[in-house]
Amino acid sequence: MVLQENISLKPYNTMGVEARARLFLLVTSREVLAAALAGIHPEQHLLVLGGGSNVLFTRDFDGLVLKNQIEGCEVLGEDRSYARIRAGSGEDWHGFVGWCLQHGYYGLENLSLIPGTVGAAPVQNIGAYGVEVGAHIEAVEAVDLKNGRCRRFEAETCEFAYRDSIFKGPCRNRFFITAVIFRLSKTPHLATAYADVRQALAKRPSGVTAQELSDIVCEIRRRKLPDPQELPNAGSFFKNPLVSRKRYQDLAERFPGLPSYPVDDQTVKIAAGWMIDRCGWKGRRRGLCGVYAKQALVLVNYGGATGRDILDLAEAVQDAVEAVFGIRLQAEPLIL
Ligand code: EPU
Repeated sequence: MVLQENISLKPYNTMGVEARARLFLLVTSREVLAAALAGIHPEQHLLVLGGGSNVLFTRDFDGLVLKNQIEGCEVLGEDRSYARIRAGSGEDWHGFVGWCLQHGYYGLENLSLIPGTVGAAPVQNIGAYGVEVGAHIEAVEAVDLKNGRCRRFEAETCEFAYRDSIFKGPCRNRFFITAVIFRLSKTPHLATAYADVRQALAKRPSGVTAQELSDIVCEIRRRKLPDPQELPNAGSFFKNPLVSRKRYQDLAERFPGLPSYPVDDQTVKIAAGWMIDRCGWKGRRRGLCGVYAKQALVLVNYGGATGRDILDLAEAVQDAVEAVFGIRLQAEPLIL
């Protein structure tokens, strides 16, 4: 186990902002983690970092960063219909989706090309194009950072909701997820209802395979979302707000065309990107950062922006949307 000191976190966050960690450890196995936890002061500040694609550093981190690199994929068992797969939490998410498709395990294809690691997927219940990862998870294996004990969380206890789970809410920063167990179908049941996907499929004469659907999703994402390698960003910077049906009806009357998605009988999700766009912020640049020109939910770092610059920009966007729509947008990434 090699603890490093005073490490730059710039290579470890897709927003590309500079911040330093007082201590830094690459966690390659549960054993490395156990050894680290046994050797540190109980009050040590800890931060678990996956792909760094959903975090904004606004200052240095005066504690120990645990960078997840636990790898490996194994099939735990299968019957005629389903396979149970355990994936190491440090695996690259998109690589894992590709592995599943290659082996004939379906369900995750709409989540292709989402940046980040397998372990980060349940934390914010990643979702795209009508699919959320929580629906395909059987359990999450984790180590309790308070006492080093291993825990297994069945999916029902993870409280998966829109971009949310207990790992983001009540148990934030308490657990290091070491593996995720998925239950995937051996026959494809493709989710093609999302508008962008439907439009892409309308151009095709016949149906698609799961691999082709994955390719379509990658095409849509590449068209609308910036590649963090080229233009640093953290994906959607804001969550789509959930409002009551009544509130939605009032808004829809005042703002015809406001895109919405029903969540349940009482709740509607409305498109924050559309609201930001409508406020004139899409494509607007402020110093070294700005709102992405092709998708207003995404904030981008043109190079050299600090976390504080990005937070100031986010607050300006939140103020503008609140002034017009009366709704305060919530940031999606973890702000540190
Ligand atoms: N829209 C605009 N202007 C914009 C952006 C969007 O008018 O600048 C409109 C679109 O035309 C569409 C609606 O708003 O009618 C929704 O846009 P889109 O389908 O692109 O999806 P989104 O709500 O902006 C969400 C997720 C994305 C996910 C897509 C596809 C959140 C916060 N974001 O974006 O997730 O890829 O749906 O499912 O839920 C992420 O979380 O990092 C992420 C990229």
